[in-house]
Amino acid sequence: MAHSGNGNNSLDADREVCVEVRKLWKVFGHEPDRVLDDPELRVATKEEVLTRAGCIIALRDVSFSVHKGEFFVLMGLSGSGKSTLIRCIIRLAEPTAGSVFINGNDICALDEEGLSEVRRHTTGMVFQHFGLLPHRSVLDNVAYGLKIRGVSQEERYEKARACIEKVGLRGWEGYLPSSLSGGMQQRVGIARALAGDPEILLLDEPFSGLDPLIRRQMQDELLELQVEIQKTILFVTHDLHEALKVGDRIAIMRDGEIIQTGTPEDVVINPSDSYVRQFVQDASPTKVLTARTVMEQPPVLLYSWQGPKAALQTIRDANIDSAFVVTRKARILGQVTVEGLVALIRKRGTFLKDALDPDILTCHADSILDDLVPLVASTRYPVAVIDEDNRFLGEVYVSTIIANMIQEQGPGEDVETSEEVQDNPAVLEGPEDTEENEKTPGDGPSEGAEQA
Ligand SMILES: Nc1ncnc2c1ncn2[C@@H]1O[C@H](COP(=O)(O)OP(=O)(O)OP(=O)(O)O)[C@@H](O)[C@H]1O
Ligand SMILES: [Mg+2]
Repeated sequence: MAHSGNGNNSLDADREVCVEVRKLWKVFGHEPDRVLDDPELRVATKEEVLTRAGCIIALRDVSFSVHKGEFFVLMGLSGSGKSTLIRCIIRLAEPTAGSVFINGNDICALDEEGLSEVRRHTTGMVFQHFGLLPHRSVLDNVAYGLKIRGVSQEERYEKARACIEKVGLRGWEGYLPSSLSGGMQQRVGIARALAGDPEILLLDEPFSGLDPLIRRQMQDELLELQVEIQKTILFVTHDLHEALKVGDRIAIMRDGEIIQTGTPEDVVINPSDSYVRQFVQDASPTKVLTARTVMEQPPVLLYSWQGPKAALQTIRDANIDSAFVVTRKARILGQVTVEGLVALIRKRGTFLKDALDPDILTCHADSILDDLVPLVASTRYPVAVIDEDNRFLGEVYVSTIIANMIQEQGPGEDVETSEEVQDNPAVLEGPEDTEENEKTPGDGPSEGAEQA
């Protein structure tokens, strides 16, 4: 049976909130408050604000919350405010207005000491450009945060070694970062963030400097690690496929605002506007669609107490060649085929169960279609979608999966909308910015803050 690779897709509204951002603004420049106090500038475009007030609006009225243990992805074009947002959460960039709560604690109200406490104990951050200390060994780099905390050498080395092992770098403890490849240096960065056992990981494009193969491997490893460590993760990326793969939920940013938040499936199937549609148009639907979304109600569902002749007649009338058989309480028992029923009737059998094939393919409703592909490759019959109690919910046809594999745009997207994308030049604006590994203008100035 296939399951979602993302682990935790079904979000419960009652789940505990770990990070909450409310009406957050970040305006760079002189007298940023002037922008906030001016009702016209508050709603003006970024360019207008720059021309009229000489200020850059990096975040505009951003609100969202991240649940405990959730893998939350921030995505958007270069300059959309992702780094600023992740930095504002621990005030590496000072918010101009609004609030940030971590486990209910008002971060903006903290003094320096309280803030250091949060940065050292509650959060761990990984930067795009590693930010390792070049003249210290891997072990010392990983143990660095613990040293600042005043942890004894013996204890911090022990913890650092354990984290180095977790990220697969055992044996490299004594080397300098310069002797490591980019991927390995990034692992050191992750080990360093993990060393303090923070509750929350803030990862700003951690894999964007890596080549695609290593990158995929790192994503897999991070997902595996997450199963074990169950941290709350805020993860910034430019890369849609990365976002869809790792995220429980994705927030899409444009010009300092969050314009859509949803599960990977939500954003691919129901992009909120043409900007999001533009982002997700290359997504392969099978990688995000779940069985629940594509399952259908079968034309015929048989009950265990029916006789074979009536069953055969019903199946033939529906012009199909197999049907699932369930109990009175809708628990799945298996399937019968036309051939099986014909053979049974020839033998003068009278119990449907004697033609029953219990060896059927089943999956759960939150299974990702992509994971079902190997399963359905070996069968011509539909896959039964069942719940935890083995109750039948619907069926997925092999043809549906294949159709979604070859489809270039998500279902729910009609021809009209795709024409709208083609015809409207505004929709296609700035596609070159979506390239991976864009230079990150905001990264330079604030990066030093992490090491401070
Ligand atoms: N220190 C700064 N001073 C002035 N403006 C800044 C500063 N840092 C960021 N900005 C501006 O804020 C906006 C958001 O930048 P930010 O770095 O957060 O974007 P981003 O989404 O992380 O981009 P990228 O994907 O390229 O890393 C940009 O317009 C940027 O020019
Ligand atoms: Mg950035």
